[in-house]
Amino acid sequence: MDARVGVVGAGDGARRHAEVLAGFSDVRLVGVVDVSPAAAESLAEDVGARPYTSVPELLDAGLDAVYVCVPPFAHGEPEDTVLDAELPMFVSTPLATTVEEAERIAERVGSTGVTTAVGHHWRYLAAVEQARKVLDGRRVRFVGGAWLDRVPPLRWWPVQSRSGGPVVQQATHVLDLARLFAGEVLQVAAAGDGLPPDAPDADVDGVTVATLRFRNGAMGTLGTTSALAWRQRAGLEVVADGLWLAVGEDGLVMREGGDPPTETVVPGDAAAARTAMNRAFIDAVLGNGHDVRSPYAEALRTHRLACAVAESAATARPVRPERVEHLRR
Ligand SMILES: NC(=O)c1ccc[n+]([C@@H]2O[C@H](COP(=O)([O-])OP(=O)(O)OC[C@H]3O[C@@H](n4cnc5c(N)ncnc54)[C@H](O)[C@@H]3O)[C@@H](O)[C@H]2O)c1
Repeated sequence: MDARVGVVGAGDGARRHAEVLAGFSDVRLVGVVDVSPAAAESLAEDVGARPYTSVPELLDAGLDAVYVCVPPFAHGEPEDTVLDAELPMFVSTPLATTVEEAERIAERVGSTGVTTAVGHHWRYLAAVEQARKVLDGRRVRFVGGAWLDRVPPLRWWPVQSRSGGPVVQQATHVLDLARLFAGEVLQVAAAGDGLPPDAPDADVDGVTVATLRFRNGAMGTLGTTSALAWRQRAGLEVVADGLWLAVGEDGLVMREGGDPPTETVVPGDAAAARTAMNRAFIDAVLGNGHDVRSPYAEALRTHRLACAVAESAATARPVRPERVEHLRR
């Protein structure tokens, strides 16, 4: 049986998934919808689907699953329409600009019981799998996350209320790995520099720094900036007793043992990770597998953490992720 899939949103994020799906022999890309008809037409044509002008109209075509790949500020209505139809749903990161909206959607996901997956493709990197294996059973002492980048060429990105800010929109991938390796975070304390990048309507911090205290005693840091003209680094360093590693889309470098330590390198392959993530979701939709590594409820925990960092930076107060209600900004 083929999975009949529809896509909501037709930007670069949606295109990456649609191109992978178009290569699966058991997926039929039925349609693409976007608030910009031209964008829907362009992506639909490139992946052999039909353009639609509304989500209900797309659902009327008869679907087995929907990809919701809209910008952070646009989440909510598309998910509600998909959940009303009780269809499996893939959602791009981040879940929303606020915790409130993601919590609301998560409650609906829970009550409908539909299969969900969120675009945390780093969890499918071979480098991350290797790091996870090595760290299994070891006590993580320190994590140091960084996202050192340019301002992405997206109008909504530098606007806090549209993107949720750099920590929520980008560093969510780093924070997701931090949780994967070191567990849940008890409290964060963050600060922003208050110096937005030079872009129209920009009001996000140019630099954000944070400290993280994990429940199991590990300590962490996070630093983000958009002050460069290229992406320098996006990833996480981890220290366990006698072991150091650095992991991200670029791969894994790991050192352990004595002085000098033994080094292991695993190359990064983001495209393979994206393919594996999409494969896992489609397999779950077709009832062929159980390898969705970030269903909505799991991604919500990472989103809460990212929003806690953003809230702490905005209010200059320590924040406990489980108590984040919304971004007061
Ligand atoms: N996980 C990842 O690595 C990754 C990579 C790329 C993008 N993303 C995420 O995907 C999302 C989209 O990013 P992008 O780069 O495609 O942005 P984009 O601005 O290039 O494209 C977004 C598209 O969504 C459309 N849109 C806006 N509101 C809509 C609505 N209510 N219904 C239907 N379409 C709507 C816009 O017209 C636009 O065509 C972002 O949240 C981004 O964070 C994640």
